[in-house]
Amino acid sequence: MSVTVVGAIGAAIDRVEGRAKVTGEAKYAYEYRRDEVAYAAILQSTVAKGAVRAVDAASVLELPGVHAVLWHGNAPRLHEVSDGELEVLQSDRVSYRGQIVGAVLADSYETARQAERLVRIEYAQEPHDVLLHADHPKLYTPEKVNPNYPAVTSDGDFDAAFAAAEVKIDCTYETPSEHNNPMEPHATLAVWEENGVTLYDSNQGVVNVKNTVARAFGLEPDQVRVISPHVGGGFGSKGTPRPHVILAVMAAQALGRPVKLAVTRQQMFALTGYRTPTIQRMRLGADREGRLTAICHDAIVQTSTIREFAEQAAQPTRMMYSGPNRRTTHQVARLDVPTPSWMRAPGETPGMYAVESAMDELAIACGIDPIELRVRNDPEVDPETGHRFSSRNLVACLREGAERFEWNARDPRPGVGRVGRWLIGTGLAASTYPARRQPSSAHASYEPGSGYTIQIAAADIGTGARTALTQIAADALEVPVEEVEVQIGDSSFPEAFLAGGSMGNASWGSAVVKACRELRARMAEEGSEVPLWVEADTKDEVAAASAEPLAKHGFGAQFIEARVDVDTGEVHVPRALGVFAVGRVINPKTARSQFIGGMTMGIGMALHEESVLDLEFGDYLNHDLAGYHVPANPDIEQLEAIWLEEDDPHVNPMGAKGIGEIGIVGTAAAVANAVHHATGVRVRDLPIRPDKLIGALPRGNR
Ligand code: MOS
Repeated sequence: MSVTVVGAIGAAIDRVEGRAKVTGEAKYAYEYRRDEVAYAAILQSTVAKGAVRAVDAASVLELPGVHAVLWHGNAPRLHEVSDGELEVLQSDRVSYRGQIVGAVLADSYETARQAERLVRIEYAQEPHDVLLHADHPKLYTPEKVNPNYPAVTSDGDFDAAFAAAEVKIDCTYETPSEHNNPMEPHATLAVWEENGVTLYDSNQGVVNVKNTVARAFGLEPDQVRVISPHVGGGFGSKGTPRPHVILAVMAAQALGRPVKLAVTRQQMFALTGYRTPTIQRMRLGADREGRLTAICHDAIVQTSTIREFAEQAAQPTRMMYSGPNRRTTHQVARLDVPTPSWMRAPGETPGMYAVESAMDELAIACGIDPIELRVRNDPEVDPETGHRFSSRNLVACLREGAERFEWNARDPRPGVGRVGRWLIGTGLAASTYPARRQPSSAHASYEPGSGYTIQIAAADIGTGARTALTQIAADALEVPVEEVEVQIGDSSFPEAFLAGGSMGNASWGSAVVKACRELRARMAEEGSEVPLWVEADTKDEVAAASAEPLAKHGFGAQFIEARVDVDTGEVHVPRALGVFAVGRVINPKTARSQFIGGMTMGIGMALHEESVLDLEFGDYLNHDLAGYHVPANPDIEQLEAIWLEEDDPHVNPMGAKGIGEIGIVGTAAAVANAVHHATGVRVRDLPIRPDKLIGALPRGNR
């Protein structure tokens, strides 16, 4: 008889902090208590460009319970700030509507909010410019795009190849500004003590917050402690400290009391980042069999006047499909707007909407099945670098999805599927996301009689990271998960990368594995009768791995059924299937949540999400979840995510690629492609609102 050893990796175990969360025991930033705490309410600019001339706080300061009104005239000076968004109250300049121009500090939250409405601010207003368009005079080519890619790449002779191509697609796709809306809005409690400051803060990485605050306030990094054991979502908006963090620390310093600051849902629309709008021209040239000969992706995005953030929308085009002649470009305009930032799969999400819509249009132009078109252009090696893929199972995802979705029974003609008032169609798109990691470090310790403790300054923003790390540690220690406790979310633990770029588990897991293996080796020598403690970091390991000539990415295929009401143009998605190839899945339960969460967000992007500009005020009109629509239960019906067996030893010791973001990539294109199949109408600007369809739908034949 053989004995099968079942490891913790791959087991669908419950979240280790699940009980604490549902019982309310798990504390989020705003729930920490401190005696003598004061509450801050943010004052936001009501003009989009100009200067603060005067702040009249006299009457407000007379209100009982109000302690101070901070503004640029009385705020403490900051030391070193490398992000213009964080130069809070350092000058009279206003760079966008909603920017922080002051704060009221009071004994209660209610008093602070009431007083905030009574402060009179006088502005010197200047004309603003907030609208991105394709021939904006301020467009320029940045040096790099997020996080550090070249802005322009070129290979072969795109222009000549495109001119000579037998079949051509030349289409422009647009996506609007979209705002991150995690369940838990951003919040900070700042407490100064003799030797520095402690923050209870909602973020995706305590190390980032610690270092930024230390620099801004002229402290040593170890004089700042950031505590964030539980975080209610981030999606990128909590990846870097936002201006309210600086404000809270500044306010606590100025007042000499702990200060609590909650960013309201409405304020998030100006203060916590958003996805840039994009204008993307896609040109694809192919032969009649659909083999790509020329690929060009020109992306236009926006940034603010105070910081350059250039989203890498054309980046996925560089590695996605083969084709000898290729070019990608990015241009950015500095407008009088808040600085855009990370929102779930920045780059890939808007970029693959354009790429995968254009591929659908090319398939139709060539008369080829869209799966077949993608299979014919699946590259042997990374087209940009010539490196082999560590693993690339896009074709297997497409084939598996086709089987499960009964794709081959589909009538490819658009506009022929109909049941009653519903026009019915199906569409698909590919998805991809890089599998990277960053150096991190971890403690592993053993206490006889009580078990193993792992400490790492990682973040669980709702993904299940704490649980996955527990499984990773248990396997590396070769003990049951019950014997392992993983502690995260505290900057006093060993330094770790943030929860971003789908790199959390890969980065932290590598450090945890290393620490646990070293601990085991120590125990083999010293026995289990003495307490043991090791610290490991992965700097060398990660540097060596990233020097390998390999392209490392996850892949997926998204299948969507869309139903369009022939009279109202309303779109429903009754069926969505995502098939992913992402290396080893650490925990099927939490992984599934990441995939279907991403797909839900992708359906939202396709149909609902849109931050609408008011050109006169220079700001977004929708500032809450009543005006900014995200999918609700009736919008999501049958939603299925599956994954292929894939083990990729090149990505990290766990063989696992990141999964936090790939679920959103491609979904919006699959919806748009399904809507086209249902109606014959191609919507090239998101979201696909009823008003964009209704005029073009067949009339009077219900
Ligand atoms: Mo993500 S947008 O890298 O937090």
